[in-house]
Amino acid sequence: MAVESDSRRPLIAGNWKMNLDHLQAIAVVQKLAWTLKDKNFQPTGVDIAVLPPFTDLRSVQTLIAADNLDFQLGAQDLSPHDSGAHTGDISGAFLKALACKYVLVGHSERRADHGEDDAVCVQKTQAALKHDLVPLLCVGETAEDLEKLGASAVPVSQLTAVLEAIPSDSELVVAYEPVWAIGSGTPATSDQAQEVCATLRETILSVHGKEQAARTRILYGGSVKSSNIAGFMKKPDVDGALVGGASLDPEEFAAIVQFEKHVTVE
Ligand code: PGA
Repeated sequence: MAVESDSRRPLIAGNWKMNLDHLQAIAVVQKLAWTLKDKNFQPTGVDIAVLPPFTDLRSVQTLIAADNLDFQLGAQDLSPHDSGAHTGDISGAFLKALACKYVLVGHSERRADHGEDDAVCVQKTQAALKHDLVPLLCVGETAEDLEKLGASAVPVSQLTAVLEAIPSDSELVVAYEPVWAIGSGTPATSDQAQEVCATLRETILSVHGKEQAARTRILYGGSVKSSNIAGFMKKPDVDGALVGGASLDPEEFAAIVQFEKHVTVE
């Protein structure tokens, strides 16, 4: 499609899900930093983010600040509310206070496990923006959706619901994650990812205009590894990756981050 921009800095974000306690988190982030340092990696062309469980955020934030690491921090969820009687919820204000930059919204595991629908994703996206966090909105079709509706219908409608509810100049990152590819070891092909990511960019174009379509980063997620990242990153509408399982292994995640060098860990 015709929306072009070289201003979209690639983003590789590690979604740790419910893995690694705060002590393990420190060890993993330290090892990631050492591995990249050993390879003389200069993260000039890529943003690297880690998205640990809530209980790890304080420890990881302290490590990043103390060692001046070139990693960005994010959380995996937030409350639609600011504060008050919402037992177990975490406010975007608290995440911002811990120097989080990103927060996942609408990951398919939350949509499935907690019944989060588009209305909840809209509220959470609005809450993130209100607290100056960048929502990392996950969209994607199940295997059943794919068979019945094709690849793009569900992700486009999930994205449209959110876009229509936020100001057109909002900073948003979109992650296209086909549910059938998550944790399955069977990623989408890079052509499949490109096709849906291009359609999502067209959706941004039609709802929020050309400038926003050109600047919004769209990531691919679902069984990304060091052996397949380079293929995704070559595609014009894929601006990075949301990495689950492979982000728990610092050497593998370091190799993914170095996608330009085609480093592979097997
Ligand atoms: P995966 O998970 O890389 O383990 O497939 C991706 C995700 O759920 O964000």
